[in-house]
Amino acid sequence: MLFYDQEQAYAVTLLPIIVAPDPRLKITAIAVERVDGAVRTLMDDMLETMHSANGIGLAAPQVGEHKRIIVVDVSDKDEEPNPIRMANPELLLVSDDIINHEEGCLSLPEHYAEVERPGAITVRYLGYDNEIREMKTDGVLARCIQHEMDHLDGVLFVDHISSLKRNMILRKLTKTKKLAANVPA
Ligand code: NI
Repeated sequence: MLFYDQEQAYAVTLLPIIVAPDPRLKITAIAVERVDGAVRTLMDDMLETMHSANGIGLAAPQVGEHKRIIVVDVSDKDEEPNPIRMANPELLLVSDDIINHEEGCLSLPEHYAEVERPGAITVRYLGYDNEIREMKTDGVLARCIQHEMDHLDGVLFVDHISSLKRNMILRKLTKTKKLAANVPA
C-alpha cells in the first residue's frame, strides 16, 4: 500500500505487520552487511508503518524481513518525533537492576503483560549513515530497544511470562485470526 506524505512529498510504503502465532516471528534474523539505500528504505518504511499503527517500536521480522534492523520512537504525542533506526544492535552492558513493567507488541495486538528487564543498557549498532554508534539509555527507551532486539532472535514478550498466560494470549490471537479469516471480503 502506498501512502503519500504531503509534508515530505515522498512516497512511503506501509508494510503488513505479522500477527502471532506465526513461524516467521520465531526465526533468528541475519545481520546486515552495511546500511545501504535498500536498508535505509526499509528503516523508513518500518517507521511509517510503526507510527501509523501507533507503536513505539518495530523489528524487521515483524514485517517479514529477516534482517537485524529495529526502529523505535518513544516520544510523547505532544513532543517532537524522535525516530531511532538501528541495524545489528548489540547489548554491550546491562544494569543489575531489574524492572517489571507492562509491555505490548504490534504482533500481539491488544494483549499486555508485565515483563522483567534490566533498567539501563548500552547498545552498539550501525546507524542510518552506516557508522558504528553507541547509546546508553534507560527507562522506556531501554525497555523498548530490548523488546525489539528480542524479535531479532525470535523472542516475543510472551516468552518472558508464564506458559499459562502465554498460551492463553496465543490461543486468543489464534481465535481472532480464524474469525477474521471467516469474514467475507
Ligand atoms: Ni514487539
